[in-house]
Amino acid sequence: MGALDSAFIQEAEHRPDLKMVEGEGIPSIDLSDSPTRTREELASEIGNACKTWGFFQVINHGVPLGLRKRVEELAKEFFDQPLEEKTKVKRDEVHPMGFHDSEHTKNVRDWKEVFDFFLQDPTLIPALSHPEDKSLRELTNQWPQNPPQFRETCEEYAREVEKLAFKLLELISLSLGLPADRFNGYFQEQTSFLRFNHYPPCPQPELALGVGRHKDGGALTVLSQDSVGGLQIQRRSDGEWVSVRPVPDAYVINLGNAMQVWTNDLYWSAEHRVVVNTQKERFSIPFFFFPGHHVSVKPLDEITNEENPPKYKEFNWGVFFATRNRSDYKKQDVENIQIDHFKVSE
Ligand code: OGA
Ligand code: NI
Repeated sequence: MGALDSAFIQEAEHRPDLKMVEGEGIPSIDLSDSPTRTREELASEIGNACKTWGFFQVINHGVPLGLRKRVEELAKEFFDQPLEEKTKVKRDEVHPMGFHDSEHTKNVRDWKEVFDFFLQDPTLIPALSHPEDKSLRELTNQWPQNPPQFRETCEEYAREVEKLAFKLLELISLSLGLPADRFNGYFQEQTSFLRFNHYPPCPQPELALGVGRHKDGGALTVLSQDSVGGLQIQRRSDGEWVSVRPVPDAYVINLGNAMQVWTNDLYWSAEHRVVVNTQKERFSIPFFFFPGHHVSVKPLDEITNEENPPKYKEFNWGVFFATRNRSDYKKQDVENIQIDHFKVSE
């Protein structure tokens, strides 16, 4: 077993505990129409999960299983290719989507490789070439020649997962006592993207992480994970790290920063990370449901009042997204932009 490059080594306090406790009680929610349950009751179940955990799993979610299986197989076929094939669609400063094998989370390298594509092609984000720059950049996807049918299948899958994301967004809105479509407008010109994660076996899993601790940025994430396991979340109630048990065919849903800000901390965006192991490779496919670049994210007027004043300052989603994205490339001396930077001081 080879030694680990120092770029992957986590500070002692962030190293994983490989004997993890399972997150007993992470809710599993059945989305099927039921004659004995109203839409409001379902919404309230989801609302409770968003408050207590910021994480839950859904079953009977409507995404066709056959399509999901095909995408999982294609992702594996893609990563199984030699590096020189994969780097033909390598991500760079001009193309932030595509293949990448040296992503850093909080300045430590992740033990993984990824392939990303935007839901909307092209996607618009702020150019940010200098501080006053208000112009936009058009970003496009890169698609590999192989495996065959990769692009078509990925695009079809993304549209199905997007439907599920809107369904959940509407239920979350109802759970807050708001009209079902309260958030929908924010997703015109959305910056959402899909990611394939591949976590190879790691010689020293006690020192590294597949993905370092982080919160997802957007409204919510819809994640397909295989049966290997490794996803851990920080429990809101006591800050303990607990693992999310793989449930066959379910999706793991977690809230991102934007939802936490919109709800003024009523709903929770949990820190999470991925633990790797010496034996088995692992695959996961998150869909990051992100607002449009023009959206100004701030606690909703309907939620805040004198007793519950806004806990966050308003920020522009596009600038937040573009800044974060840029910081993925290299180890930086400054801490990557985090949502806490917008907290109103108390
Ligand atoms: C991510 C992430 C979790 C997983 O890619 O942001 O948290 O289980 N992935 O792969
Ligand atoms: Ni994540």
